[in-house]
Amino acid sequence: MPQIENTHAQWSNRLAYILAATGAAVGLGNIWKFPYIMGENGGGAFVLVYLFCIAIVGIPVMIAEVYLGKTGRQSPMRALGVVAKKYAASAAWKYAGGMGVLAGYLILSFYAVIAGWACAYVIETAQGHFINATPSEVKTTFESLTSSAPQLIAWTSFMLLVTVGVVAKGLQKGLERCVRYMMPAMFLLLIIIAGYSANYGEFSQTIQFMFAPDFSKLTVDSVLEALGHSFFTLSLASGVMIMYGAYLPENTSIVKTSIWIALADTMVALIAGIAIFPIVFANGLEPSAGPGLIFQTLPLAFGHMPAGQFIGSLFFVMLVFAAFTSAIALIESSVAWLVEKKGFNRMLSAALSGFGLWLLSLLSIFSFTGASWTEVHWFESSMNFFEMIDYLTAKIMLPLGGFFIALFVGWCVKQQDLAMELKLSPFMFLVCSNLLKFISPLIILIVFLNLIGVLKF
Ligand code: PFF
Ligand code: NA
Repeated sequence: MPQIENTHAQWSNRLAYILAATGAAVGLGNIWKFPYIMGENGGGAFVLVYLFCIAIVGIPVMIAEVYLGKTGRQSPMRALGVVAKKYAASAAWKYAGGMGVLAGYLILSFYAVIAGWACAYVIETAQGHFINATPSEVKTTFESLTSSAPQLIAWTSFMLLVTVGVVAKGLQKGLERCVRYMMPAMFLLLIIIAGYSANYGEFSQTIQFMFAPDFSKLTVDSVLEALGHSFFTLSLASGVMIMYGAYLPENTSIVKTSIWIALADTMVALIAGIAIFPIVFANGLEPSAGPGLIFQTLPLAFGHMPAGQFIGSLFFVMLVFAAFTSAIALIESSVAWLVEKKGFNRMLSAALSGFGLWLLSLLSIFSFTGASWTEVHWFESSMNFFEMIDYLTAKIMLPLGGFFIALFVGWCVKQQDLAMELKLSPFMFLVCSNLLKFISPLIILIVFLNLIGVLKF
């Protein structure tokens, strides 16, 4: 067996890892994206398909990624290289890890921009700008923020600077300390807001909307959307779980922690629905309002509700915390890679990585402001850079990365070794191993072929 050189620190304990990994998972995907795609795809039936994807594909792939990280103990591309070598598999597998790091980097370039909107909204709401605002005033606020390059650049720079600052401090003093405070605070705020919302808003209509499945509303596209989102929401195939797994203390159970993380992420997404939809329904707003849902419709509601200024500000603070604990995860694998490969210290690595991200984020920023040079024409379609990066990562790189990771761990890793590490009952191990070998790759493949138009439903 090749000697594995461990250049990195480890999480100080199991709880620190769970908080950090849950922090990576819980983010804009749960609070911003999940509610609006659920709204666009008709509610209950979509939720069921989504839960199915998490259980059948998401959890097994997460287990596979953490296993790779814990075995390789390096940044994703190198960790996969180490494991490939150990089992005499092709060195090319490591590119599945490299693609993940790249995907995570690209995601962060727009994630930081949207997290910046959330920061801006904390200030807007706290200053009372939404009190008794009309729909057109709320819309104007949103549009003037998203069309102002200086404002977007300022907020994005702020987010990236703080991210770099925390990550530069290292694993235990930086990332760990940050999630130890932010995650409990985020959960608490979410519960307070959901309780408030259930009290003052249309609670029963929300429950009906979220949990009474109407399968006539389900289309092939919504199934694809559910699968893509299950990857995004669990931070899979983006280098994050491999990297965080590389810092796992030796005796921590991969299976139990993965299930906890997936459960916590799912709970937060559902509670976010309970926090948002009662307000949406009570104010006669559209649940399918799209990406603007929490930035355009919610402030309107907060502006008309008792204590809305206060609760609204808390809501956006919570969103910033959720986004921030994902941002530090997204930048970490590129930083660790620079430390390993170039021998830079964390400070320099974080600064370099952050500067690259800042440059990349300009592509998304100018897409939002509508600069014409951001329009990309591709065959018949046209997208701006933001839409292109979102599409490329969520619909192509993440599913493809998950596909190769499942196959790699299912087929190249000696299954006895995997079984030893996972410590499952023989039956449960068989289930897990076969999910990785056959079921997950097959489901991903079908979805992917459909997307690129080879298979049409
Ligand atoms: N899981 C995060 C969310 O749901 O917002 C987004 C994300 C974070 C995706 C980190 C990928 C990642 F590596
Ligand atoms: Na998530």
